[in-house]
Amino acid sequence: MVDRIGTLVILGAGGDLAKRLLLPGLGQLLRSSRGYDLRLIGVGFDAMTDAEWRDRVVESFAAGEVVSSRSTAVATTSVYLQADVTDPADLTRILAATTGTPALYFALPPQVTIASIAALEKVGLPAGAVLGLEKPFGTDLRSARALNRQLARLLPEKHIHRVDHFLGKSTVLNLLGLRFANRIFEQVWSAEHIERVDIVFDETLGLEARAGYYDTAGALVDMIQSHLLLVMALAAMEPPSSLDEDDLRGSMAQVLRATHAWKSDPVAAGRRARYTAGTIDGRKLPAYVNEAGVHQELDTETLAEVTVGIENWRWAGVPFRLRSGKAIAERRQQIIVTFKDVPHRPYGFTGNPGPARLTISLTPDSIGLDLNINGEGDPFTLDRVTLGTEFAAGELGPYGEVLHGILSDDATLSVRADAVEECWRIVAPILSTWRAGTVPIDSYRAGSAGPTAWR
Ligand code: BG6
Repeated sequence: MVDRIGTLVILGAGGDLAKRLLLPGLGQLLRSSRGYDLRLIGVGFDAMTDAEWRDRVVESFAAGEVVSSRSTAVATTSVYLQADVTDPADLTRILAATTGTPALYFALPPQVTIASIAALEKVGLPAGAVLGLEKPFGTDLRSARALNRQLARLLPEKHIHRVDHFLGKSTVLNLLGLRFANRIFEQVWSAEHIERVDIVFDETLGLEARAGYYDTAGALVDMIQSHLLLVMALAAMEPPSSLDEDDLRGSMAQVLRATHAWKSDPVAAGRRARYTAGTIDGRKLPAYVNEAGVHQELDTETLAEVTVGIENWRWAGVPFRLRSGKAIAERRQQIIVTFKDVPHRPYGFTGNPGPARLTISLTPDSIGLDLNINGEGDPFTLDRVTLGTEFAAGELGPYGEVLHGILSDDATLSVRADAVEECWRIVAPILSTWRAGTVPIDSYRAGSAGPTAWR
């Protein structure tokens, strides 16, 4: 394979994301069968020597158990540049330090990325250069649109990789095989047979010292605006002709364009809550508002639930409920498709365990189909069985996949400009009612299942 990218530059290299997710993902990719030869440059605002940076790279590669001769070579030749990425002169210096075609990965807060892209416009990019941009992309619809326009002046859409690591999760991608490589599901994949779809991503983790970012985002922007709407798009889109970037992303954008707050009522379509002090798995968590760096007046939610409808022939009338919460007692990360009940159950059966249900679980990666059958004992009493399997882990974790897309300049798993704007457009009316305080914020104890009133 001809390596497309000569140098990967991580902007925000001193940050938590680079250390915890990007570098381990890169190490995994370098070790995999899809390995690359490239140079790595770390760029950060704070001072760091090359030696300190290399130690950090080696440590992150090792944390992912991903040491190989290739990753060692990348780590030991890597350099660190201290720079202000919003300064055109510093960006010129960074680009001059690259060899071959550069890929710049913005592992930075959205406001800094926006300022840096504005500076980059003054500098220009070498032909073929690629940009990777972490979520959230912009801070609202307006800023996302403005950023898209700026980027479009700088380089072609196919070289812009708006990253959403959920699209690199192997089980999220399994949705494609499940839906489009089996005849049985696609036939019943519509409002005619499906009652509702729930996409839930509850975590046991709390704020984890991320107030600087999270306190201005909240659960709606952090999880639903990006990750869960994209998962929904894969679950609900029309079958694409191929999995290439235009077909797949075209189908995703089309379904997002049809998505709106349930019954066009942004107040009733969502609810929000915030955790109070509690204990999870023996770990004591302070109330969210008492976490370091949190501003109580921002009224940030840590649990968000939004119901949307997809206004097209296939889905009209089916609620898609998207929910994500932090500090919840149990990690529950699933797509649950509930089918309609049968039109008529022959008289003579007893028991009704409920309609058939398909659960695709993101953690652990598994699938289960709940069906009703004649049970044990009395053959006319209906019982539940689950046909299920666990999925083997993919060769790469989500960040390995995302980086593979960037380094081979394949935008299939990158979020297209219009999709990002649609995701902001969908949540915008809900977000503004929340920010205006129209929807009161409920509370739940950390380590509980959520507000009692929601159960
Ligand atoms: C990130 C969010 O994008 O995704 C976090 O900012 C969240 O708040 C995380 O915890 C969940 O992803 P993962 O890596 O657990 O699948």
